[in-house]
Amino acid sequence: MMYGVFLRYFSFTLLLVSAGAAQCVEPIVIAHRGASGYLPEHTLEAYAMAYGMGADYIEQDLVMTKDGRFVAMHDINLESTTNVEEQFPKRHRDDGKWYAVDFTLAEIKTLSVHERLKGRFPVGKSRFEVPTMEEAIELIQGLNQSTGRNVGIYPELKQPPFHKEVGFDVEARLLELLERYGYSGAKAKVYIQCFYPDSLLRIRQELKSELPLVQLISGHKMQADLRTRAGLEAVAKYANGIGPDKNIIEKNPDFATWAHGAGLVIHPYTVRVDDRPAKYATTKDELQQLFGVYKIDGVFIDFPDVGRDFLDSLSTDSLSTE
Ligand code: G3P
Ligand code: CA
Repeated sequence: MMYGVFLRYFSFTLLLVSAGAAQCVEPIVIAHRGASGYLPEHTLEAYAMAYGMGADYIEQDLVMTKDGRFVAMHDINLESTTNVEEQFPKRHRDDGKWYAVDFTLAEIKTLSVHERLKGRFPVGKSRFEVPTMEEAIELIQGLNQSTGRNVGIYPELKQPPFHKEVGFDVEARLLELLERYGYSGAKAKVYIQCFYPDSLLRIRQELKSELPLVQLISGHKMQADLRTRAGLEAVAKYANGIGPDKNIIEKNPDFATWAHGAGLVIHPYTVRVDDRPAKYATTKDELQQLFGVYKIDGVFIDFPDVGRDFLDSLSTDSLSTE
């Protein structure tokens, strides 16, 4: 019994110093698209639930409207999570898709958001709107004021090359919006994430922002260079961390060691209670492997309560040994 407690204490201590020799960070829960396991993704309701469940950061994927407003939405198309097909049946492009950049914010606000994945919140029940980034921030900052907590935001610029082609400078616009809401400097409670290195490089080097940056890394062959030790060392020159597909680490645990060696924090995506890898009997086992063995620093999770319970249990055990 005592041995088990000691092991948990030891592993929690390791968690706190896991991000390379020069860093000491507390592990974090990142609510992936809000509490998207329980409510439709990227809605104010899902963000509020994530906040109540103890998330440290709440994620917003960002796309632009025709009139240049950031809305929180995973896709540049509207049909996977809204009723745009019913509402605007003729407004699709020749490829049969409805693009957010073809609609004004006022039009997008008439849409109803629904659940993307089967077995989660029932489609057609209740009503949810597409939020703007400003609304997401005002909700989280408002809750920070009323609760005394300091929960962060974790915006992702979706498809910057597509937005650039349409004429939007999304990097500059995001920085302007964040500055307006008080996010500036290296210690701001925000991580800006993107799959496109050029966007993060531009933010850091050209636009001279010191905000924390996270390079997203998928298993796609286009990003093979980023999955090497040299690639991670290059990322560390402009970003503070990486957000890798968790399968990259599972396939190559050295990857996590390389990232920490380069001084990068590691926030893999995405842990889902209802889509657990077969090798794990429980999500707690998966989290134990990710945090305890691979030494990750935070996790994108659709069920922030499960992530919070896991990290709190480590913390409680460590306190009980004193
Ligand atoms: O941003 C982390 C993770 O969300 C990346 O994948 O496709 O869910 O945005 P995606
Ligand atoms: Ca994302």
